[in-house]
Amino acid sequence: MREKIQALMAEVDAFKASNAAELEALRVKYLSKKGDISLLFNDFREVPNELKREVGQLLNDLKTKAQDRIAALKEEIGAAGASSEQLDLTRTAEPVALGTRHPLTLVKNEIIDIFARIGFTIAEGPEIEDDWHVFGALNFAPEHPARDMQDTFFIEQNPDVVLRTHTSSVQSRIMSVQKPPIRMLFPGRVYRNEAISYRAHCFFHQVEGLYIDKDVSFADLKQALMYFAKEMFGPSTQIRLRPSYFPFTEPSAEMDISCNLCGGKGCPFCKHTGWVEILGCGMVDPNVLENCGIDSNVYSGYAFGMGVERITNLKYQVKDLRLFSENDVRFLRQFESAY
Ligand code: PHE
Repeated sequence: MREKIQALMAEVDAFKASNAAELEALRVKYLSKKGDISLLFNDFREVPNELKREVGQLLNDLKTKAQDRIAALKEEIGAAGASSEQLDLTRTAEPVALGTRHPLTLVKNEIIDIFARIGFTIAEGPEIEDDWHVFGALNFAPEHPARDMQDTFFIEQNPDVVLRTHTSSVQSRIMSVQKPPIRMLFPGRVYRNEAISYRAHCFFHQVEGLYIDKDVSFADLKQALMYFAKEMFGPSTQIRLRPSYFPFTEPSAEMDISCNLCGGKGCPFCKHTGWVEILGCGMVDPNVLENCGIDSNVYSGYAFGMGVERITNLKYQVKDLRLFSENDVRFLRQFESAY
């Protein structure tokens, strides 16, 4: 009996298996019910009593050792199997699907970059505003038509709460809390009560500019806007300022650029005029400065506001405004490589 156990010990020491089938064969041969080791346990009954203790110990050792060896081999095969059969480390990695930036974000960032180069910093304000910051402080008379239900979304319970109709509201907020010099841009979303069509939407985006300091003149405004137009649309771009009216600027103007599609010759896009309007601007009305606690005898400034959708249309010829908010990836993917 003892010799048999020792012989089996040696066999267990020599256990070898290179795959799961070979390992299973070992288990069956030694440890299954009719396996060599199990059968030895049957013979145990015939071992004389005085040897039972010693032989029993040996038998148990043998069984444990066989189980341990099989478990160890199983682990080896498992690990080797995984690295040789399932993982090909030379394979090229799966490409990671990257999202794209929204065209309005791209254009907004470009506008910000251009003005950042001449010292403008950024601020944002709330989209849900009060009447004072959107209209009152900006010199809108109480009966001004822009307050009309046609244009402004009011909250029924409280006529003082509105969705801002322009980013000029951030002008009044910043001027009320900051001392000049102020040279800032205010990008953001604005809301107007318009029927949705290919050319109008109930929300859109603006970038507002504000520069307040001593001795700021209309020439400074014109120079900054010309620099912007040439950076955005190319060095041959021309600008034209037409007199206009806004309650918060005096004098006020609207700026056209030479049509970047036909180079100013005239085409259907510019309605054969050679010019397209891109923004409103003017010198900040002294009343607005005073409303916000800035001494209009000491300081002057200019402001401008442009529609991001409009600039994007000009740059990328997007004909239908609604594409910007429909999240159709076929549209959005076209901007994949833009910066
Ligand atoms: N707030 C004006 C608009 O929404 C644009 C503007 C901004 C005009 C600043 C003059 C100065 O159309």
